[in-house]
Amino acid sequence: MRISIAAVLLVVLIIPCLLHGTADAVRRPTSMPLFPAIFSFGDSYADTGNFVRLISSIPFGSPPYGETFFGHPTGRVCNGCLVVDFVAAAVGLPFVPPYLAEGQNFSTGANFAVIGATALDLAYYQRQNITTVPPFNTSLSVQLGWFEHLRPSLGNATARGLIQHGTRRIVVPWNVPMGCLPVILTLYASPDPSDYDHYGCLHEFNRLARYHNEQLRSQVQALRSRHPRVAIAFADYYQPVLEFLTPPALFGEITIQHNIQGFNGSTTLVVCCGAGAGGGRYNYSVAAGCGRPGAATACADPSAAVNWDGIHVTEAAYGDIAEAWLRGPSAEPPIFER
Ligand SMILES: *[C@@H]1O[C@H](CO)[C@@H](O)[C@H](O)[C@H]1NC(C)=O
Ligand SMILES: *[C@@H]1O[C@H](CO)[C@@H](O)[C@H](O)[C@H]1NC(C)=O
Ligand SMILES: *[C@@H]1O[C@H](CO)[C@@H](O)[C@H](O)[C@H]1NC(C)=O
Ligand SMILES: *[C@@H]1O[C@H](CO)[C@@H](O)[C@H](O)[C@H]1NC(C)=O
Ligand SMILES: *[C@@H]1O[C@H](CO)[C@@H](O)[C@H](O)[C@H]1NC(C)=O
Ligand SMILES: *[C@@H]1O[C@H](CO)[C@@H](O)[C@H](O)[C@H]1NC(C)=O
Repeated sequence: MRISIAAVLLVVLIIPCLLHGTADAVRRPTSMPLFPAIFSFGDSYADTGNFVRLISSIPFGSPPYGETFFGHPTGRVCNGCLVVDFVAAAVGLPFVPPYLAEGQNFSTGANFAVIGATALDLAYYQRQNITTVPPFNTSLSVQLGWFEHLRPSLGNATARGLIQHGTRRIVVPWNVPMGCLPVILTLYASPDPSDYDHYGCLHEFNRLARYHNEQLRSQVQALRSRHPRVAIAFADYYQPVLEFLTPPALFGEITIQHNIQGFNGSTTLVVCCGAGAGGGRYNYSVAAGCGRPGAATACADPSAAVNWDGIHVTEAAYGDIAEAWLRGPSAEPPIFER
């Protein structure tokens, strides 16, 4: 549980179609989707229901997960939609079905993401005696194996679009500011005020997230030069999440009701589905996490909260992030740009 969030990884692969892959198609009301299919790889930031089908599913398969949009748990680690759901809807596609669900139609894409998945293989962690990653064999290479397995069964139209036609669009998301996550703020609380930035986040962990993002950027740049015909975008979770937060220094001086994004300015580091009375400053406790027995209710207004369960953000935050990836400024290039 502790280390797994350090491996936040999400890759969304979108294959656009030459015929209608223009931004104009989105501005005009049209029944034609902007892309023929979305294939998604990653972890809990992108899983739309695989993990809960692999492993019996407390807490993620329990209320109040899913309460806001779906009205019931779906296996998404959120109160509602994730970025991949907002992106699918915006480009005119159905929600991307989880690969491990029965009876799905994958002709418009599949989601291979699994909660807790890592980029490196499980065998690597086992060799290093690292036991703090989840013991599930769902790493990126395993997810790519599932994709290879699915490919022959995709309809001819989807398969042809994939292999022969069109430029491919790949969206590579960055890590969130880990030092602003209530789980980290609780587990690594420091008595030294200089360990915190002016948002109240832990410097060291944000530095680690930025290091990860810089490494990713240089890998993506190398990929771009090797595959000049493929549009490979960076998609930023870091800056948007930081912008949702309210510098605590403002408390008391100005009455903050809602910050500019509409979040409750006094609770941006507080978990909405948290521990209640036992949760301390951030309303978080490892022992009494969201969805566990006795933690089946969330805060009254999740649409005003940034953080959902201590590790993941709310649907409201994902919606704003998706918007910034679709139209800018948080993806380069934005998904709606060719
Ligand atoms: C899957 O969906 C596509 C597009 O909606 C449709 O053309 C196709 O017939 C469906 N396949 C099955 C097996 O239902
Ligand atoms: C994980 O699964 C892959 C195939 O999907 C297999 O080749 C590999 O040995 C497995 N790794 C572990 C550590 O079980
Ligand atoms: C992992 O643990 C085993 C057994 O305790 C030990 O033999 C091995 O050297 C360890 N490997 C590493 C990389 O620390
Ligand atoms: C796909 O196309 C091939 C030839 O191009 C055809 O023989 C095959 O029946 C098609 N399969 C489906 C599922 O439409
Ligand atoms: C913001 O959250 C605090 C703490 O839960 C609450 O007292 C306050 O009423 C909320 N403000 C608004 C504008 O909803
Ligand atoms: C803290 O978590 C509890 C349990 O989910 C919730 O009822 C409460 O509203 C949360 N507090 C805030 C300020 O969001």
